[in-house]
Amino acid sequence: MDTAFLINKLAEAHDLSDEELKDLIEDKTSNAPLAAAADKVRREVYGDEVFLRGLIEFTNFCKNDCYYCGIRCSNRQAERYRLTPEQILACCKEGYALGYRTFVLQGGEDPYFTDERVCEVVSAITKSFPDCAVTLSIGEKSFESYKAFRDAGARRYLLRHETADLAHYGKLHPPALSAENRQRCLFDLKKLGYQVGSGFMVGSPYQTTENIVSDIRFLQRLDPDMIGIGPFITHKQTPFADFESGSLELTLRLLSILRLMFPHVLLPATTALGTISPVGRELGLKAGANVIMPNLSPVNVRELYQLYDNKICLGEEAAQCRGCLERRVESVGYRIVTDVGDVKRQDKTNG
Ligand code: 5AD
Ligand code: FES
Repeated sequence: MDTAFLINKLAEAHDLSDEELKDLIEDKTSNAPLAAAADKVRREVYGDEVFLRGLIEFTNFCKNDCYYCGIRCSNRQAERYRLTPEQILACCKEGYALGYRTFVLQGGEDPYFTDERVCEVVSAITKSFPDCAVTLSIGEKSFESYKAFRDAGARRYLLRHETADLAHYGKLHPPALSAENRQRCLFDLKKLGYQVGSGFMVGSPYQTTENIVSDIRFLQRLDPDMIGIGPFITHKQTPFADFESGSLELTLRLLSILRLMFPHVLLPATTALGTISPVGRELGLKAGANVIMPNLSPVNVRELYQLYDNKICLGEEAAQCRGCLERRVESVGYRIVTDVGDVKRQDKTNG
């Protein structure tokens, strides 16, 4: 296989055949040429800018039981918490002072947070911080619920498709959850005019290269504004405790492939990537990523929101984390911008 040929073809056509994609994903030669090609494209579109999204993990109650996740409802050892609306607003206030202009409210699927409660929080944030974007990441809901959140002021929604392959989906989730419904949610969100983020875990149990190719094909159909990928990391209190975590190299390869296929997409260097390697996020940026999503949750609840083991930044105050990040981002030749950080689209504008 001619790696250079595949990289050039991908950079020019933004696509490859299934067979070529598979070869490039499984390629065992150095990541460096692929990362360099991806970085070139990211600099053409986004320059050296890195966008920040302030993540507020506001509840770890979850009615779902995904086999990979540390806050699954069957994990009785997980201590549960919920932030009050006042606590959530205090996180935003602290984040705003540090330059954050996007707040991501992420939580388990917590029945306590009815549509009405979610809408109240969203409206309160948009009222207090009119120059900020509110992003929700609270799982699978009905079209009507998504519409209500949108009307309340939410502009963006993150929902990873997890895996596009129906059989693989079934191996990662209990029968109550389906890939079909998850994908329905994503298309509903697009219909409602959300900027949508999707994505998948790299190296999840039973994942094959063919599955990853299907994930990429699904993403091409969905055409999301953001693609979040990070390594699967084992959590001891889950049924997948004995599986190996996903690899740094494969995650980096995929980040670069995604940057070349979707030149304009927002691509986070995820916390999971920073967890499997002390310089994972820096390497992610060099491989094509252009977003970092630091934790703005109160320090006393951070360790309770553990989807996987050994998550980073647990003890850090938001301000310390902000300084740490700035140094990390600059160490690899990029620059954090305090901006709402909309996706740059050639075909349409986003609001
Ligand atoms: N390792 C890595 N990522 C995980 N997620 C959930 N559990 C794990 C894990 N063990 C990811 C899922 C989910 C996102 C919020 O976190 O992809 O969509
Ligand atoms: Fe959070 Fe370094 S990025 S402490």
